Amino acid sequence: MNLTITVIKADIGSIGGHLVPSTPLVTAVEEHVRGAAAGLLLDFHVGHTGDDVAILMTHTRGTGDPYVHRVAWDAFLAGTAVAKGEGLYGAGQDLLKESFSGNVRGMGPAVAEMTVAERAAEPFLLFAADKTDPGAFNLPLYLAFADPMNTPGLLLAPKMAKGFRFVVMDVAHVEGDRIIELQTPEDLYDLAALLRDPERYVVESVWSRATGDQAAVVATSRLHNIAGKYTGKDDPVMLVRCQMQFPATGEVLAPFQIGHFVAGGMRGSHNMPLMPVTLGSPVSYFDGPPIVTCGAYSVRNGVLTGPVDPFAHPFWDAVRTRVAEKAVEMRRQGFFGAAMLPMSELEYTGIMEKLAELDRRFRLRPEERHQEQASVVTAH
Ligand code: F6R
Ligand code: MG
Ligand code: MG
Repeated sequence: MNLTITVIKADIGSIGGHLVPSTPLVTAVEEHVRGAAAGLLLDFHVGHTGDDVAILMTHTRGTGDPYVHRVAWDAFLAGTAVAKGEGLYGAGQDLLKESFSGNVRGMGPAVAEMTVAERAAEPFLLFAADKTDPGAFNLPLYLAFADPMNTPGLLLAPKMAKGFRFVVMDVAHVEGDRIIELQTPEDLYDLAALLRDPERYVVESVWSRATGDQAAVVATSRLHNIAGKYTGKDDPVMLVRCQMQFPATGEVLAPFQIGHFVAGGMRGSHNMPLMPVTLGSPVSYFDGPPIVTCGAYSVRNGVLTGPVDPFAHPFWDAVRTRVAEKAVEMRRQGFFGAAMLPMSELEYTGIMEKLAELDRRFRLRPEERHQEQASVVTAH
């Protein structure tokens, strides 16, 4: 069967700052989806990562379906009403438009969805990250789908030997989607040249070259492109199919042991390491560190089994300890240099006003001083 897997996520309010949504909020979202599911959805699951709520839905209506998107939008409105009633922070903050207009793309919530020919066994992973942006998945996807040092399947599994096709989006482009397609292994260096700049070039999807099947999809929306200003980090979700013509589950998980530095953390304005955490984790230290959860599912005729939590394994405790050390090490240098994002990526405009004010106070040193100094230099 042709199955569509849709995940739509939004930050609609959280307890104690940007930490975690309340149970009544998540329940309100869940109850709305349950009430609307009949005749529309085959199955669904609602989860949360940091302050973001993600709705996973299976159906046969294809991508961008207005009815399916509307379920998520209305569920987030129901959750927002609870958030407002509880005085949660940032209630409804990702719902950037007043009314639903057929598709949640461009309205604030992040969307990742793909239509697949459901395999007899269909394992897939739902990754959700908080306090970072979609470029955070560039490195894990590159390593999982293009690097035999990470993924022995590229050498060992005949169906993977042809490599993969990456669709990369230029997220700095505001009008329409500007994309490029690159094939690995031939275009490996070109792909690396783009992916090294995760604030500009973001992997949107990955496809098997052997079978033409879609392997992965990432929510690439950038909130500031929609709102015209920064309204928070984009906190992406990603779906990855595993096994057979795709990397094994463990090959997809492996890159997350790096705890690579990503944009985000406190006020969405820092470079901090990405920590793999268990499902439903809040954020904490320095409004971070940026976190990623993974829900592993199987699906048959659209019915979900799972999620199980691969990051709940003791192996990842050791990773978390190391990532925490990396986070503290970076924080030692406070605002300085690489610890904070470049001006163009800061979530706050206040610093621009401060710099404009300071700029007015700069002055050219008077001409005679220049000449005086020049003559001192010549005399020596
Ligand atoms: C992401 C997140 C941050 C905040 C940012 C602004 O989940 O919470 O990116 O949006 O820290 O926070 P406020 O609104 O508190 O200034
Ligand atoms: Mg938030
Ligand atoms: Mg968030």
